[in-house]
Amino acid sequence: MSHIENIIIDEKDYKILLELLKSKTGLNFHYYRRNFIEKRIKSRMIRVNCWTSKDYYNYLTVNDNEIKNFLEGFTINYTFFFRDYDVFETFQEMFLDGLNVRKGEIQSHIRPSSQKIAKFRSKRHYARNQMKLNEVSSKPDMSYIDIFIFLDRLSFYQKLKKPRNERNTIKIWSCPCATGEEPYSIAMILNNLEQQIPNFPPYKIVASDIAAEAIEKAKMGIYSDESMKEISDYFEWKYFTKKKVQFGYYNTIKDAIKNKVEFIQEDVTKGHAKSNEKYDIIFCRYLFIYFNRENRHQFLKIIDRHLAENGLLILGKTETLFDSFGTLKQIDSRNHIYIKTHSKLF
Ligand SMILES: C[S@@+](CC[C@H](N)C(=O)[O-])C[C@H]1O[C@@H](n2cnc3c(N)ncnc32)[C@H](O)[C@@H]1O
Repeated sequence: MSHIENIIIDEKDYKILLELLKSKTGLNFHYYRRNFIEKRIKSRMIRVNCWTSKDYYNYLTVNDNEIKNFLEGFTINYTFFFRDYDVFETFQEMFLDGLNVRKGEIQSHIRPSSQKIAKFRSKRHYARNQMKLNEVSSKPDMSYIDIFIFLDRLSFYQKLKKPRNERNTIKIWSCPCATGEEPYSIAMILNNLEQQIPNFPPYKIVASDIAAEAIEKAKMGIYSDESMKEISDYFEWKYFTKKKVQFGYYNTIKDAIKNKVEFIQEDVTKGHAKSNEKYDIIFCRYLFIYFNRENRHQFLKIIDRHLAENGLLILGKTETLFDSFGTLKQIDSRNHIYIKTHSKLF
């Protein structure tokens, strides 16, 4: 018996295991989809030759190392700089449009070179991705046009039209931020624009995650080469210092970017530390996949509370609320971008 399908964990044992994992890690695994967690438990059970959940419970109780092994390779904190970089390109284009700056007038630097992508990805994956990119650039993309119809009403657009002062600071929340690569990518984009565009608006980036260790790592700002696999050479050169180590480099983010992000450790289904803050843009990518239905709803209520009217929710490539959810209406079906509005879109 060596297959995952042969291992059965009943409801009661599953709960008991989750309680034990919670007491050892501080993480509440009840929040996540059962399929996802169960798969991880079962694959560890096979690795350590435990064939019943009781065996694995006992094994976990006496082997301190097993918790580390359980969490390792559990892709929950997995992230990297400029993950799905075309989402960031769309984000940048919206800013440029609001500032009345044409794309060709600035050096973007978001897109990594094809050599860099090829270095980290298998040939097949790379070819598939190139095909997708070609498709995107050769076809007229309706979803893309949609965004531009709605731009004028966005809360951050309205701020761009007003005097550049504290009151009109554009507020961005990266939730969840894991080890910080996403909010730092946003900070690099805005810093790069700020240096090329006169009278750039003031902005503020808040980033939060439930995992204390991830937040600590984010605050330290030191990354392995794996995190750098889709960052452009220019941004890598401009915003990092590198130190050679045995297996590659330590890449340390420079203070100019580090100081732009405020990190908070919190469970976002319970609320947000900045209880009165309203954000113009919320990035929320690769979180729903882990949540069960109840937590998803709980979390969406919190998003609703903290997103300004006509603010944007960016879910990214893999997650969706379909055409709409409550006050959130989709305006880009490629990057799953939603606008919060109480009024009709048309
Ligand atoms: C895959 S990472 C996503 C990071 C980043 N947004 C990205 O797109 O690469 C998922 C993160 O969600 C965090 N997370 C899971 N449940 C959470 C919760 N209840 N509150 C806040 N963060 C949570 C995890 O700790 C993990 O760091």
